[in-house]
Amino acid sequence: MEYKIRNFKIIVEETADAWGKQSAAWIVKQLHENPASKIGFATGGTPVAAYKELIELYNEGKLDFSRMITFNLDEYYPIRRDNNQSYYYFMQENLFSHINVNPDNVHIPNGEATDIAEECVQYEKQLEAAGYLDLQILGIGPNGHIAFNEPDDHFEPNTHHTTLDKKTIEANARFFNSIDEVPTHAVTMGIQSIMASKKILLLANSASKSEVLESTVFGKITPQLPASVLQLHHDVTMVLTADCADGILAHIR
Ligand code: F6R
Repeated sequence: MEYKIRNFKIIVEETADAWGKQSAAWIVKQLHENPASKIGFATGGTPVAAYKELIELYNEGKLDFSRMITFNLDEYYPIRRDNNQSYYYFMQENLFSHINVNPDNVHIPNGEATDIAEECVQYEKQLEAAGYLDLQILGIGPNGHIAFNEPDDHFEPNTHHTTLDKKTIEANARFFNSIDEVPTHAVTMGIQSIMASKKILLLANSASKSEVLESTVFGKITPQLPASVLQLHHDVTMVLTADCADGILAHIR
């Protein structure tokens, strides 16, 4: 089902399989329109099924990634690239090593940078030089974060070094042996860098996101719930599973 609710196009899929295919379809559409698209990638549990679908389409000869330019939203800091928890590693494992993306076109904040302030400036400069993104893929944190823009008293516009929120550390502990192993800091694109994208694709597929998605669409625009800023973007598509669309759809039933 497809809905237009406020400024959001909201697509709801009943099954995990349909959700993965639908999510991937938006990325495919972008690449068919322009094979040299600049696409912003997210990591985490959410987009994995969508990336699997892209790999399948590539293996079937239906997609060419050779001219695609990529920028990732964030990276833990500090972290080595070869650490299997790094987002560099995640992207290789879940997408890049399986497709014909040109490694020269891949941008991921450098978790090994010695001068983190300089790394942030340089990453933003690269985004700016690219003219920002055509399509930004986003997940959403249980606290309403997008990328690692955590709840705060202000929106941080550009790429920055940040301290992870307690809720983020708790949520991400599922990927680690223990919560003590979760990094406490990260480098993240800022709100302006995300909002500069021509199109935004927000993906969610877990019932635990229902409430935060409802606040994202209907709540007050506030840096305490960073995703609420998406109410100010003119081209946001959400692809949701039915369980996490419940909170939003309750408003129109
Ligand atoms: C990851 C990112 C984060 C995640 C969010 C949801 O690059 O930017 O904002 O999208 O934390 O994570 P999952 O998908 O694991 O629920």
